[in-house]
Amino acid sequence: MVMMYAAPHRAGNTPVSTMTAFESRLPDLINSLANEGWAICDDFLCADEVRALRQEGERRLVAGEFHRAGVGRGSAQQIRDDIRGDAVRWLDPHAPSDAERCYWSRIESLKCELNRQLFLGIREGEFHYASYPVGSFYQRHIDRFRDDDARTVSVVCYLNDAWETTHGGQIRLWLGASPNDEYLDISPIGGRLVLFMSDRFWHAVQPANRVRWSLTGWMRR
Ligand code: OGA
Ligand code: MN
Repeated sequence: MVMMYAAPHRAGNTPVSTMTAFESRLPDLINSLANEGWAICDDFLCADEVRALRQEGERRLVAGEFHRAGVGRGSAQQIRDDIRGDAVRWLDPHAPSDAERCYWSRIESLKCELNRQLFLGIREGEFHYASYPVGSFYQRHIDRFRDDDARTVSVVCYLNDAWETTHGGQIRLWLGASPNDEYLDISPIGGRLVLFMSDRFWHAVQPANRVRWSLTGWMRR
């Protein structure tokens, strides 16, 4: 069975005091991760933050800082167009741009809450920009390496402007272990954060008819 994820309806548009949209949604996010093993948070970043990060990514891409993403680890790593087509650039936590510093601080608050409430023992995060050229995809996979169990929570934040369902590019998240199990198709809408337990959830990136931008990473223990 296929389900399209649709954002829950929000009553009115009253701002929640001085909290960011993200802070006000944190309790639901933590609950969902604890109960379901996955969670979606719209407005993890506001439109200005999304634009600043996408422009930073585009600048770095033009500057030649990206490389084709491989599959596998270490010396076994290979470029496989038939498995994944994105190009990536890891964030350097020691030399962030202004936009990236803001992202790290958001991630830091998320990490503290995950540890405080779910005792995940996360010590650090690793994140990369990912740019998927038109028509590229990432086949069904799981994020945990066979020989390394440090990746605990997968964290994907989308940097796209005005993304429509017809653009494709959804992340497909299977709710069970079999390809025949139920799945969610979640559009890569700018500012949206998708979290899931790295060792449990099979997922894939569907081809898109626009370039697709994200910051993808892992909370590591
Ligand atoms: C990955 C991945 C999902 C996405 O990079 O491992 O699954 O929606 N990305 O970009
Ligand atoms: Mn993945």
